[in-house]
Amino acid sequence: MVAFNINGKRVSVNAEPDTPLLWAIREHLKLTGTKYGCGAGLCGACTVHVNGKAVRSCQTALYEVDGARVTTIEGLSPDSSHPLQRAWISEQVPQCGYCQSGQIMKAAELLKRNPKPSRDQIVAHMNGNICRCGTYTRIVAAIQRASREV
Ligand code: FES
Ligand code: FES
Repeated sequence: MVAFNINGKRVSVNAEPDTPLLWAIREHLKLTGTKYGCGAGLCGACTVHVNGKAVRSCQTALYEVDGARVTTIEGLSPDSSHPLQRAWISEQVPQCGYCQSGQIMKAAELLKRNPKPSRDQIVAHMNGNICRCGTYTRIVAAIQRASREV
């Protein structure tokens, strides 16, 4: 049994300690906004925050979050009004949408640390979050839009 806080709620997950956090989130806690892309740490679709840091939940073992504070896309804002979520809509970023939770969670880490990133800083930070639909230009535009609001 591993206990942690997710999106402000205390939870316990009864699973093997080396279970990927992604499975605990999706299968045990039924929070399906976090996506399974590659399962190998290569795409970023599974990105969540652990104690404020963006991590790939497919590569994070459940025991590593014992006592931690985990945030998924569902917990980024209580009413989906985070500046990034609003900017994502305004810039019409998603195509198929599959990678987008991970993109937003990765971007949220950046804006928390650096509310006014340069374009180069945005590109460097987001490097490694893959979008098969090629929405990269809109992702950068949305982060720039959100950064004007935070
Ligand atoms: S599913 Fe975790 S990095 Fe691709
Ligand atoms: S919007 Fe389709 S993979 Fe990114």
